[in-house]
Amino acid sequence: MQKPYLLHMITPEKNLSAFDVNMAFDAGWTAMPYLGVELDEVATIVQDTIFSRGPQGLKRTGIFIGGRDMHLAMDMFHAAQDAIVQPFEISILTDPSGAFTTAAAMVATVAHQLKVRHDQDLKGQRILVIGGTGPVGASSAVLAAKLGAEVTVLGRAMDKANTVADLCNTRYGTVVEGVKGDASDHIDDLLLEADVVFATAKAGIQVLSEEQIASAPKLKVAADLNAVPPAGIAGINLLDNGEQIKASKSGAVGIGPLAIGDIKYQTQQKLLIQMYSSGEALNFHFEDAFEVAMKKVR
Ligand SMILES: NC(=O)c1ccc[n+]([C@@H]2O[C@H](COP(=O)([O-])OP(=O)(O)OC[C@H]3O[C@@H](n4cnc5c(N)ncnc54)[C@H](OP(=O)(O)O)[C@@H]3O)[C@@H](O)[C@H]2O)c1
Repeated sequence: MQKPYLLHMITPEKNLSAFDVNMAFDAGWTAMPYLGVELDEVATIVQDTIFSRGPQGLKRTGIFIGGRDMHLAMDMFHAAQDAIVQPFEISILTDPSGAFTTAAAMVATVAHQLKVRHDQDLKGQRILVIGGTGPVGASSAVLAAKLGAEVTVLGRAMDKANTVADLCNTRYGTVVEGVKGDASDHIDDLLLEADVVFATAKAGIQVLSEEQIASAPKLKVAADLNAVPPAGIAGINLLDNGEQIKASKSGAVGIGPLAIGDIKYQTQQKLLIQMYSSGEALNFHFEDAFEVAMKKVR
């Protein structure tokens, strides 16, 4: 009898994301939850997993790491990799709060619009990540900075925004000062130089008005992740995917949360299926998610 596909889903939180559990089952996995896991417990879970199934059974076994904290998730990802003992290899995917696949989808859809409308890539673009101190904002800041963008993460408090920016730079090898922090109070000045905005604040919060969009003379693309009314960026509809934003005087186009969500869904599903279908042990984090999202967008 073939062994079932088992995905051991680890989170430091009280609950797994129900979204991720649905995604895992829909991709063909049976999901096993491990809740409230601490970093130093990851190795034991991984080794209990690998030694009980043998190399062939491990092709039908995976580890998923969730949670709310991008940095802890990456620490857990590395701890899981370090716990592997040859030849008992196993696939590992980390996607805390869906942040990696969501950020990958947003950055990919923006990169696509820059290419088709301006024949430009992300290198040198000035990007404001509004409400950027959460897991999705920080992940998208790292991805964009690694592609050469000049990224500013905005939060309500300057200290928190600076801490998030510093962690992005020191932990993920973005170029020196690739990510800066600033307070959202300064947004009107920052909009004067912005090429791109990402709206990544908590759901249900509008972070940019029509007047502010009109006041951004260089704006090319605005991406909004908020699917809970009101829109995170006024004038961007849920399904927009490159439509002109009426209020923009620079002809900026908008990308709405459901257009980004579609690419996010396809990216996460592809990664979950590849974990068992490729025949080899694969390890995925935000950069792998971005590669897949770029292929989906094209
Ligand atoms: N479309 C999709 O496929 C998809 C998928 C996943 C997530 N999302 C959306 O992506 C967004 C980001 O997710 P996340 O989990 O990273 O967000 P989050 O952690 O809930 O919030 C991000 C930031 O929002 C700021 N914030 C909180 N309350 C605020 C308020 N009242 N006014 C202004 N700012 C406020 C906070 O920053 P400060 O405290 O520093 O101000 C917080 O760090 C959410 O809207 C989420 O629903 C969309």
